[in-house]
This record gives sequence, C-alpha cells and structure tokens, in this order.
Amino acid sequence: MDQAQLRAPETLEELIKQLYEIFSTDKINVEEVHALMESYKSNPADWSKFAKFDKYRYTRNLVDQGNGKFNLMILCWGEGQGSSIHDHSNSHCFLKLLQGQLKETLFDWPDAKHKNQELTRKWVKIFHENQCTYINDTIGVHRVENVSHTESAVSLHLYSPPFNNCHCFDERTGHKNQVQMIFWSKFGERTPFETSVSKENN
Ligand SMILES: [Fe+2]
Repeated sequence: MDQAQLRAPETLEELIKQLYEIFSTDKINVEEVHALMESYKSNPADWSKFAKFDKYRYTRNLVDQGNGKFNLMILCWGEGQGSSIHDHSNSHCFLKLLQGQLKETLFDWPDAKHKNQELTRKWVKIFHENQCTYINDTIGVHRVENVSHTESAVSLHLYSPPFNNCHCFDERTGHKNQVQMIFWSKFGERTPFETSVSKENN
C-alpha cells in the first residue's frame, strides 16, 4: 500500500472504502486491517443509524457486505449484556470499540481428547474506545461482555470470509452446539422477525 492509502480514515464511510481496497486481493494482511480499523476515530454521527439496542440481549446490525469478501457489522451491548463462548468458523474476526468498553475472555480450543473438561482460560482483557482486537479459531474461542452496569457499548466487527453459523461452547464441559446467527437490522432497517426458536445471536 502506498502512503495515501495508509492515512487514517476520517469517517466510517472512508474506512469502508479502504477496506474494499484491502480486500480486493485474496491475501489478507491481518496487521494492516487491524491498524486501519484502529486508526478510525469513532464518531457516532457516522454510525448511530446502525446502532440499535435491544432491552434483552445484544444486537448484531449489518452495515456492509464487503463485496462478498467480508461482513461489517455493528454490535450494540446494553448494560451487563454479553455473548456466549463461541468460535469464528475459520474466519478472521476484527473487533473495534466504537463506544464504551468490552471485556474479552479468551479460552483454549476444547481438547478433543479430554471430553467433559472445563474450558481453560487464557486471558481476560478490557478493550476501550477505538481499540481493536483480533481472533481466529487457531487463537481460541472467546466470550465478549459489556460488564458495565451504567454504560452501553458499541463495537464494529469485521468477519472475513463472511459466515452464518458458528459454535457455542459450554464453559464447564467444552460441549459445543452449532448456532445460526441472525441480524437485528440490516443497513439500518429492522430485520423482519423469524419464527425459528433455535437461532442464536453470537
Ligand atoms: Fe467473537
């Protein structure tokens, strides 16, 4: 990339434009995407139309489908809301904080040889506004939580390649379940309700 392309994006729109450039080739440079996402200084005026909260659980809101190369979405975490422990279906996952703080608890991938074993914690980290973190299945599985009881949190997630299913894990036994992921909204519009009961929201 030349210097002009490396400048910090001033808006979310500009960030998306630069992501399209990076993902136009098939080889992904994780450090480059990480640095680019971190360099965007969050401005609610750019993203508030996508940030839709639900009283009962965190929401996933699709922002851009990245020409089929990636999915960009905004997750909204009410006070005390968190995900289950989940994997990322062999995709890259970048998570950038747009507002508030999120706690990430990272676990080792469950050991297939030792069934019914509690997952091993690798670390717990707190991420603050504008910070970006990265995970894939070789790093482990994680849980993400807004542990604040007074502040909501908003995060920007990039998944490449896009995926619709992942696994959720039981912390005490390592047992996993496949779950289909749903969007609370797409491009700023509420997604019609579906009747299926088995869908998760990770
Ligand atoms: Fe995740």
